[in-house]
Amino acid sequence: MRVIRFLPLVCAVGFGLSLPGRFQSVEADAANLVSGKNVFEGNYSDCHNADSRESKEGPGLKGVGGGTLPSGRKASADVIRSVIEGGGAGMPPFKDMLSEKEKEDVIAYVMTL
Ligand code: HEM
Repeated sequence: MRVIRFLPLVCAVGFGLSLPGRFQSVEADAANLVSGKNVFEGNYSDCHNADSRESKEGPGLKGVGGGTLPSGRKASADVIRSVIEGGGAGMPPFKDMLSEKEKEDVIAYVMTL
């Protein structure tokens, strides 16, 4: 019975203790997107518009977040990774030019466009 009486307190403390972790992951997500945007804008935005579907060297990437790539393929993290790593049809391969973290961040960023 004593356990039941203290249950709300235990739950409240447990929830409170878990909060810093939650905020940390939100901050980490935002930091990843900022870093992904920097990777993209720093070196690669010459080839792609991020704010329209108008083509430069490659197709504009606005709307990728809606789930479909300009080619009509599914805009999943795996497909975008294979485009980044393998290139093709005018896009150079970036497999060895970006770190694993840069790839993850730029994929996350492209998926918000
Ligand atoms: C990290 C930087 C880059 C990212 C995240 C990226 C991402 C993409 C994505 C998502 C596509 C669409 C693929 C599809 O519709 O199936 C694409 C295609 C393309 N990209 Fe990039 N790209 C990057 C850098 C570049 C650069 C620097 C160039 C130019 C030198 C370039 C040229 C192209 C071209 C020509 C296509 C069309 C390829 C095709 O139709 O298969 N990209 N890129």
